[in-house]
Amino acid sequence: MIGASTLADAMIGTPIIGEPILRIGGLRVTFHGDRGAVRAVDGVDLEVHRGECLGVVGESGSGKTVTFLATLGLLPPPVRVEAETLTWQRIDLRALSPAGWRTLRGRDIALTMQDALTALNPALTIGTQITEVLDAHSDLPSTTARRTRAAELLRLVGIADPPRQLRAYPHELSGGMRQRAMIAVALACGPKLLIADEPTTALDVTVQAQVLELLDSLRAQLHLSLVLITHNLGVVAAHCDRIAVMYAGQVVETGPTAQVIAAPAHPYTAGLLACLPRLDRLDAPLAPIPGRVPDLTHLPPGCRFAPRCAKCTQGCDQPQAMRALGAERAARCHLAEAA
Ligand SMILES: Nc1ncnc2c1ncn2[C@@H]1O[C@H](COP(=O)(O)OP(=O)(O)OP(=O)(O)O)[C@@H](O)[C@H]1O
Ligand SMILES: [Mg+2]
Repeated sequence: MIGASTLADAMIGTPIIGEPILRIGGLRVTFHGDRGAVRAVDGVDLEVHRGECLGVVGESGSGKTVTFLATLGLLPPPVRVEAETLTWQRIDLRALSPAGWRTLRGRDIALTMQDALTALNPALTIGTQITEVLDAHSDLPSTTARRTRAAELLRLVGIADPPRQLRAYPHELSGGMRQRAMIAVALACGPKLLIADEPTTALDVTVQAQVLELLDSLRAQLHLSLVLITHNLGVVAAHCDRIAVMYAGQVVETGPTAQVIAAPAHPYTAGLLACLPRLDRLDAPLAPIPGRVPDLTHLPPGCRFAPRCAKCTQGCDQPQAMRALGAERAARCHLAEAA
């Protein structure tokens, strides 16, 4: 638990990147619906290291959210979740009891959802939503102490006039303020890892930048590890140490952000980069990736990106495994070469 006095001041420091704290190996998630079984996540391997910011990027429907919902045990049966490895520090999440999950989600890992308006309870004030978390997960002895902590948390996330905003309902806040409030609720349990799912969708560009700056600063102040889920490779480039690119339920490239951006190994990553506007070349035409993300019930037999790939050639009709490209990088493409 973060101590009240330590929230804003004593924990200042640069994040130290260390050993893996969350390990996901061979994760598969299958939904059963009218159209039969849909495998939304198919063999995802990911690690989050202590103190790092991992960016998870990919087009809509690539399985970013489902990966982390499944990891946090938030997809109960009949959704089928299978994994070869799923560990938080030394805890095997596959064997966790309901009480164990409550403790883990309350104390170690927090998730902010894609849509702040639906993630926050519309019927409760921001103050009540924060104090509910504190009631369940803190050892603060009194209502007054919990109210004081709630106000501190709002101040920490940059919400002015906390006493007034604690009494506000989610719909009374602007989009950016709602996002900040949701981050405050997530931080109330003093997590070691924050998973921020699309923290800036639906916000205008200036507010987006402010929320991302806030996450950067919280990460440094609280020694948080951070997973930033986004569509936007530009956001990842500016804020993340490492990147995992997802396509059609699989990770297709991982590596240190600077290296991946400088020389993407997978044609899909290269395609995402070519879609980004460049301030230094405003006249340069943007090159959208042709075609569409495949229907998960009708996947191509080989590489899932092959039908959209300009480099498609012999061998791409075979399923692709992740290939290590040196110590830190890997890509799911037989054409990828170590830099
Ligand atoms: N409850 C569900 N039932 C059936 N299919 C689902 C369910 N939730 C997600 N899916 C499917 O799983 C796939 C991955 O969804 P997911 O929400 O993880 O994508 P995403 O990468 O987070 O996309 P976005 O960027 O739009 O948030 C999609 O094809 C989606 O339709
Ligand atoms: Mg999502």
